[in-house]
Parts: sequence; structure tokens; C-alpha cells
Amino acid sequence: PHLSVRRVLPALAVLCSGQGTNLQAILDATRSGRLRARVALVISDRKDAKALTRARRAGVTARFMDPRGHPTRASYERTLIRLCEAHRVRLICLAGFMRILSPVFVHRFRHRILNIHPALLPAFPGSHAIRNTLRWGAKVTGVTVHLVDEHVDHGPIILQEALAIRPGETEASVLARIHRLEHRLYPKAIGLVLSGKVRVRGRRVTRTP
Ligand code: GRF
Repeated sequence: PHLSVRRVLPALAVLCSGQGTNLQAILDATRSGRLRARVALVISDRKDAKALTRARRAGVTARFMDPRGHPTRASYERTLIRLCEAHRVRLICLAGFMRILSPVFVHRFRHRILNIHPALLPAFPGSHAIRNTLRWGAKVTGVTVHLVDEHVDHGPIILQEALAIRPGETEASVLARIHRLEHRLYPKAIGLVLSGKVRVRGRRVTRTP
């Protein structure tokens, strides 16, 4: 009976390039049952990504996909698509994945790719969001989980939560607080999307009761 229950849980692919603390939060949430899903596949474009170690430790299929092993982005993405299809992936979660996905890929998984960003979008998109937020002198920051569209850090927002920046805070202290928030928000957003209660109209995302 246990196996059949496992099989019906929706499959996630998590794409990472680095530490994988968000991957860990997702793995923990699935293990504890807070998130009714299973991580079927973890992919990294960096061989030394700690995310791969975390995945293997959790008994999840983990693949290093070397961009240099593919002549074009299109061929890289074709392999990615094949892998996701082979694992019957319902939702693709970008968690610190440092590659931009093409419109072809995004359309193939329309409204089925999520990203997490360490700022209140549309403020401070791109890499170094936390550093840029502090340099700007912003007093408030936060975390955004959004659907991926063909632009970077741009698609419809699923969940967003703010964080006040305290006087004298450093990049490291903001990063630590952002991470805690991310680790709570990402599994929650994934659960919401999987619940089928999320409706997307243009940029507007609403929850049906
Ligand atoms: C997170 O801060 C996320 O917002 C950004 O990349 C970082 C990934 O961190 N997109 P980790 O690899 O999950 O620890």
C-alpha cells in the first residue's frame, strides 16, 4: 500500500546550481508530509553543486548536466525535457539554477515552472539581488515565488512575503533571514500550485476556495 501511495504523489524536478538549501527545504517538506509531492529528479549544471549531494543523500535521482556536453542550448533543453518526461514531472522548480530557459522550454511547460527570487519582484531582478537591495538603501525586501515565463524573474507571482531591513544589517545577515523565509515559502507555493486551486489570468494569480 505504501508504494501505491508514493506513486500517485505528483513528481517534482528541482533544478539547482549551488548550495541547494531550497532543495533541502523541499525534500524535508515532502518527507514530513507538509508537501504532498515527491522529488523525482534533481538536475544541476554544475558538477560540484552541493545540491547534487543533498539529492543523492535523500535517495533522489541526481544528474549533473554539463552545458559543455551540448552544442546548443536547444539540445541541452531537449535532454532536460526528455528527462522530465521520463520521470513524469508535473512541476519544475528552479532553485538557484543559473541558466536561462528558452521560450521553447517555457512554452513546453507552461505554468508548470516555478522560480524563487530573493527580493520583492519587480524590484531587484537578476543575480546579486540581495547585494543590490542593500546598495540601493532599500528598507524592505523579501522573497518572491513566481511562475516562469520567457523573461528573467518576471512571471506571475504565486507568493510573496516582505522582510524589514534592520539598521546596520550586512549582506550575510539579510541572506540568512531571506533563506529562512525562502525555505518556508517555497514548499508552500509548490503545494498551492499542485493543489490545482491556483488560477492564472495574465499576470494575476488567484486562489479558488
Ligand atoms: C536562493 O536565494 C534563491 O532565491 C536564488 O538562488 C538562491 C539559491 O540558494 N534564486 P540555494 O541553492 O537554494 O541555497
